[in-house]
Amino acid sequence: MPFRALNLSPQILQAVNEAGYTEPTPIQVAAIPPILAGHDLIGIAQTGTGKTAAFVLPILTKLAASMGDGPRRGTRALVVAPTRELVVQIEENVRAYAKHLPLRMATVFGGVSERPQLEALRSGVELVVATPGRLIDLMGQRAANFSGLEFLVLDEADRMLDMGFLPPIRQIVRALPRKRQTLMFSASLSREIEKLTHEFQQSPKIVEIGRRANPADTVTQLAYEVPSHLKPALLLHLLADPQFDTVLVFTRTKHGADRIARRLESSGIKTGTIHSNRSQNQRLRALKDFKSGAVRVLVATDIAARGIDVDGISHVVNYDFPMHPEDYVHRIGRTGRALAIGDAISFITSEDHGPLRSLERFIGRGIVRKRAEGFDYNAAAPPREERRRGERRVSQPKVEPRLPGNSPRGSGDARRNGHGRGPGAAPRRSWGRSRSR
Ligand SMILES: Nc1ncnc2c1ncn2[C@@H]1O[C@H](COP(=O)(O)OP(=O)(O)OP(=O)(O)O)[C@@H](O)[C@H]1O
Ligand SMILES: [Mg+2]
Repeated sequence: MPFRALNLSPQILQAVNEAGYTEPTPIQVAAIPPILAGHDLIGIAQTGTGKTAAFVLPILTKLAASMGDGPRRGTRALVVAPTRELVVQIEENVRAYAKHLPLRMATVFGGVSERPQLEALRSGVELVVATPGRLIDLMGQRAANFSGLEFLVLDEADRMLDMGFLPPIRQIVRALPRKRQTLMFSASLSREIEKLTHEFQQSPKIVEIGRRANPADTVTQLAYEVPSHLKPALLLHLLADPQFDTVLVFTRTKHGADRIARRLESSGIKTGTIHSNRSQNQRLRALKDFKSGAVRVLVATDIAARGIDVDGISHVVNYDFPMHPEDYVHRIGRTGRALAIGDAISFITSEDHGPLRSLERFIGRGIVRKRAEGFDYNAAAPPREERRRGERRVSQPKVEPRLPGNSPRGSGDARRNGHGRGPGAAPRRSWGRSRSR
């Protein structure tokens, strides 16, 4: 189906065309018409399949009719997302799709000065993308005018409605008009969480592509069994393979992330980190460097598990096994996006076998367990000094002292789609992007 069959406004069709998209993705085909028709909607589709455009394009089409001209009427669309990085990314998406429209928009997130955000809200912007915490702060200062709000979007809806975010979301929604369109999107939405959506939506259409909580089938999943103390050596061993060219490593803790990043850096591997103890500038910088290829490895906590769209991530490594099966689906979905392919490797220690089996039940398929090729599982114990340093961190038992272990590897498979990186850099197959731009 061509995009022009979807009744989007001409300016948006032009932007979509310039983005190089040749046809809408399945979730876009299924969700855009009911959104244009005014329905509340729950959209569930695999990671990396274009859910952002599935809500942004129809909202912009509906806003386009009376955008920019006339008196400022306050905010008409509010998109709420769980992390600052995701807010910034959604903003970039909206700006790209709205490039031929006089849209006024603002972002709201913590960790940076409030003033510009306050001023932007007060000046009257049609569309706001926000994290819940800072939004509540600014609403408390009467900066926002939501009295005429028409659209509320909860991206990563299940995350927004879990225990951590539900109270602030309730608080925000109480300040919004009842008559509005509410849209929720995620790659994973359990039946339990779906019950909570009734509080926020009226007779929503449920649009589901494939099975719920299905990992993207463009991602090859493997589990490498490894004793805890050999994890650092195994990571270095993997990184000795040049096929691991853009690698996102997930750890359970912030300290774990820092420790691994230091280890990789000291082995000459350019590495960035993202976790909640880093400043907003450091976080955005790390993501930017990863996107541009200035760093090869990004080590992150689950804060980077959801929504983040970096073109060309070749591998996701679950250095620590995820706490929740949903996290696994989102983490590995940072690769294999927009019909590209990628590999996800999970390190499995003796403690992880039970959780791995529950995960397999959750995703409805088995994950192949392997021993890493060419890796010396009988490597000697770490040097004394390093062991002591590691032992001091008693609260971080998952990350152990480390070993040097860069034995060279043969080349792996050659399924990489050697496209460039950065927004708009990728030619794709099928519903993907065209080369001519
Ligand atoms: N119709 C399309 N054709 C080609 N590429 C597309 C199309 N729609 C979106 N994309 C691209 O696909 C990538 C993934 O999109 P997006 O981030 O919206 O995925 P998502 O479904 O929200 O994933 P997640 O569940 O991880 O948040 C982006 O780089 C986006 O530019
Ligand atoms: Mg998304």
